[in-house]
Amino acid sequence: MSVEPFDAVDVIRAKRDGGTVPEPALRWMIDAYTRGYVSDAQMASFAMAIFQRGMQRDEIRVMTDAMIASGERMSFASLGKPTVDKHSTGGVGDKITLPLAPLVAAFGVAVPQLSGRGLGHTGGTLDKLEAIPGWRAALSNEEIMAQLAGEVGAVICAAGTGLAPADKKLYALRDVTGTVDTIPLIASSIMSKKIAEGTDALVLDVKFGSGAFMRDVEDARELARTMVALGNDSGVATTALLTNMNVPLGFAIGNANEVRESVEILAGGGPADVRELTVELAREMLALAGQPDADVEAALDNGKAMDSWRKMIQAQDGDPDAALPVARETHTVVAASSGVVTRMEALPFGIGAWRLGAGRARAEDKIVFAAGIDLHAKPGDTVQAGDPLFTLSADDAARFDRALEAVEGAWTIEADGVADTGGPLILERITAN
Ligand code: URA
Repeated sequence: MSVEPFDAVDVIRAKRDGGTVPEPALRWMIDAYTRGYVSDAQMASFAMAIFQRGMQRDEIRVMTDAMIASGERMSFASLGKPTVDKHSTGGVGDKITLPLAPLVAAFGVAVPQLSGRGLGHTGGTLDKLEAIPGWRAALSNEEIMAQLAGEVGAVICAAGTGLAPADKKLYALRDVTGTVDTIPLIASSIMSKKIAEGTDALVLDVKFGSGAFMRDVEDARELARTMVALGNDSGVATTALLTNMNVPLGFAIGNANEVRESVEILAGGGPADVRELTVELAREMLALAGQPDADVEAALDNGKAMDSWRKMIQAQDGDPDAALPVARETHTVVAASSGVVTRMEALPFGIGAWRLGAGRARAEDKIVFAAGIDLHAKPGDTVQAGDPLFTLSADDAARFDRALEAVEGAWTIEADGVADTGGPLILERITAN
C-alpha cells in the first residue's frame, strides 16, 4: 500500500484557521477525494472551511487545475474550425442556450455545449430539451465530434462522466451541505469543466439578483473576474457579461414552455429580454471566434438560426415538429387591483415552478415536462383588476397550493408606480481580472 503524503485533517485545519493551503496539499486533497481516500465528511468540512474563509486567487487556480486533472481532457483541435461555448451561472426562465447554440453555429462556428440538469430552483438545459419527443442528451465523444464537424455544427448534450469527476462528486456534496454559493467553489466547479472540455473560447453569463446564486452585484462581479482570469490563464479566450436575474427571463418558466419560447426567438419573435440577451451573447461568442461584425439579428429574422436548430434537434433523434407536452391542470392568478406591475421577483417564481414539477427535489426525481409557470405580465406592464397575471401548470392540481405559497408576495402592482428591476438586463462586460 502506498503512503499518502498529507493528512486531510491538516488541510482542513489550515483552511479552517484562515490560512492558505499549499499547492501540493491542495492538489493531493482533490485527488485523494476523487479516489475515495478522503471521505465525504472530510471534504464537506473542507468545503465549509472554504465557504467561511474564502480562497486566494492562486488557491482557486490550483483547485481548478486539480479538478481538471481528475479526469479526461477533450480536444476539438481536429475540427479545423473555431469552437466557442457559453455558460450561465443559472437563473429562472434562463433558456438562452437553446436559441443561442444554433444561432452561433449558423455562422460556421462549432458550439460544444456540454450542459447540466437543474437542481433546486434553477432550470437545466438538458431537462428543457428532453421535453422534445425523442431528443437524446447522452452522446458518445465520437457522436459529439461528428455533429460539430458536420453541417449541424452545434451540440447540446450531457457532459460525459470522464470530465472533471472531482467536480461531479464535490458538487453533489456541496448541494447537500450548504456550500454551493461561494466564489472559490463555483468558479473552480464551472471552469474545471469548461477548460477540460477543450473549447477555444468561452462566454460566461454571470447572473446577479434574486434568482441567482450571487444576489449581490459586487459578488457576481468578483465571480466573473475570477472565472475570466482562470479561463484566459488556461488558454481559453474568456469574456463575461454581468446580467440581471432579479426578474424571470421571458414569460416561460419550466421546460416544455421554455422550449416553445426559444422557438419563438428562433422564428424572429419572442420576448424582448430573451432576444436581447441571446443577441448580445451571440455577438460576444462570434467576436471571440473572429467574426465581430456578424449580423446576428438577421440570422434570427431570416430563418438561418431556425434551420440550424432543426438540424441540431434531429441529429439527436428529436422531432422539431412534434407537439410538446401540455399540462392536465392549470390555475390562473389575476391582478387584484389596476396599476403598473412594479416588481416580479425571480426566486419565488423559480421555486413555484419547481414545486409544480418542473424541477427535482432529489436527483432521482422525474421532471414533469409540461409543468411550470407562464407569466402574462412583467414589470413595467399596466394591468387592470381581473387581468391574468400568470398561469400555473401541473399534472396534479394538488401541487398548486405549495406553488402559490412560494409566489405569495413576489409581485407588486402600484397605481402610479415605476418598475424596479434592480438595474439593466446587461450591466457590464468583463474581459480581464
Ligand atoms: N454551476 C456549476 O457547474 N457549478 C457551480 O458550483 C454552480 C453552478
